[in-house]
Amino acid sequence: MKQTDFLVIGSGIAGLTYAIKMAGRFPDKKITVVTKAAADETNTKYAQGGIAGVTDFENDSFEKHIEDTLIAGDGLCNPQVVEIVVKEGVQRIRELIEWGAKFDKDADGDYALGMEGGHSEYRILHHKDVTGKEIERTLLEKVKQYPNIEFIKHWFVIELITQHHLGFLVTKSTPDIQCYGVYALNTHNYQIEKILAGTTLLATGGNGQVYRTTTNPSIATGDGVAMVYRAKGRIENMEFIQFHPTALYEPGSGGQAFLITEAVRGDGGILRNRKGEAFMERYDERLDLAPRDIVARAIDSEMKIMGTDHVFLDCRHMDQEKFIHHFPNIYEKCLSIGIDVSKHMIPVAPAAHYSCGGIKTDEWGRTSIRNLYAAGECASTGLHGANRLASNSLLEAMVFGHRAFDEGSKHHVDPLDDALIPDWDAGGTTDPREMILITQSLKELQLIMSDYVGIVRTDVRLERAMKRLDLLWTETEQLYQTTTVSPQLCELRNMISVAFLIVKGAQFRKESRGLHYNTDYPEKSGLLQNIVL
Ligand code: FAD
Ligand code: SIN
Repeated sequence: MKQTDFLVIGSGIAGLTYAIKMAGRFPDKKITVVTKAAADETNTKYAQGGIAGVTDFENDSFEKHIEDTLIAGDGLCNPQVVEIVVKEGVQRIRELIEWGAKFDKDADGDYALGMEGGHSEYRILHHKDVTGKEIERTLLEKVKQYPNIEFIKHWFVIELITQHHLGFLVTKSTPDIQCYGVYALNTHNYQIEKILAGTTLLATGGNGQVYRTTTNPSIATGDGVAMVYRAKGRIENMEFIQFHPTALYEPGSGGQAFLITEAVRGDGGILRNRKGEAFMERYDERLDLAPRDIVARAIDSEMKIMGTDHVFLDCRHMDQEKFIHHFPNIYEKCLSIGIDVSKHMIPVAPAAHYSCGGIKTDEWGRTSIRNLYAAGECASTGLHGANRLASNSLLEAMVFGHRAFDEGSKHHVDPLDDALIPDWDAGGTTDPREMILITQSLKELQLIMSDYVGIVRTDVRLERAMKRLDLLWTETEQLYQTTTVSPQLCELRNMISVAFLIVKGAQFRKESRGLHYNTDYPEKSGLLQNIVL
């Protein structure tokens, strides 16, 4: 059993921003950061393009960034939250720079700002094409300055502790659900322990692993969303899954798809189909830099028309020296598989990339459960609406990591007495005999989601997906009740819940808006509606 003042689940940009700030404000309090993997194994580490933020006030303005975010969000952004993130984001970027993050500068010493789809100005701060790695490095270095931060790696958080664990009936209509901490599996000794906390922050990141092809690393299994849903908290807008238009097409490579950042198109890269046609002109006047939902759908349509499983990104005409300078990681990766970008086009296809919905929060990161906050990709703050503007997520994670800290620091809550919370009950379970029951179900899940709940949806496909998920759920629950828990089993269970929430959201939304496109309802409805489950 562990007790802490502030518990943080997740060591990406959202969790670490919060932890650093809380540790600085309360040197006498304990902040515990838990991660199920290595400290830096996060979506944050893989971010490429950069952070959007208004730093060039001569050419850019808050109003323009706000407008671009609202346009991308296709009517569903919360304008108040958009204004908060755009305006406060600049302070958060300054802090990150003070903490040691290095962003590229031009010859005059000004920040070399990048361009991405949906942005009307150059405003993306970046560190080559490995911005996330630089940010994660900076934050982990900063954490070391605080002896009151306890960092626990390779512990898998299984469940939120609420009144349910004290023996009370908790339903969606229970008015005052409270979070007292979590049960977590220590994967060093396979014991399940309680971590009791006054305040808990979920910063568990995205859920791309629900799909067969994703840019997300293996940690992105939607655990936070699934835990809140099971604890009867509110989840919002899960149908808005963003597919990145240009993941490197590498058949047979499996696992995480390598991203070709949108900044490559920002610097002049052109999408072409099998015949070599620059097809974006047929889809949107903003061509290759239209918002992501439009570009991903255009690629999907071209692939279907041509009967191919990828299109190409043509960089052959670009200044090669500049390309290598800005995108050294992409250049090396392509070379490693025999693609010289000065001579060959890069094969690319869309891949699941970002979850716009998630745990519903207010403008201070408060969830519907007391003493439980959420920030970063696992949260639905109202910023992204129906489609996230490129490079707005790192910004949002910092702003809401800060806001959750700001609000949480005003209300100190003591952790509950250990004696009140029962230990994890593993009675009646035995060690799993066959891992294939888990691995095969995971493959099925990813196929169902990719084939029926991808970029283009129909009512029939969604109905089929739901029926198959039902079966997977029943089988997995049975396994969960009878076998000792493992991270793989918990992740599968969480991913099935997340998939259910995506399909349910998609079924409720009888329109096409932003990232959700259903051919049975190809138009937007007159109703601006967030779907809360
Ligand atoms: P993460 O950084 O994903 O961290 C999640 C943490 O939660 C991890 O430490 C994980 O181990 C932990 N965790 C999860 N479940 C559990 C559990 N059950 N128990 C214990 N720990 C758990 N956004 C931009 O703005 N700009 C970009 O250029 C950009 N590029 C991207 C490129 C790629 C390839 C990807 C995948 C994403 C990109 N994004 C970008 C999106 C952005 O990186 C993420 O949205 C953001 O980093 C999420 O940060 P986070 O702190 O919310 O979560
Ligand atoms: C990219 O670099 O293309 C990803 C940016 C993002 O997801 O915001």
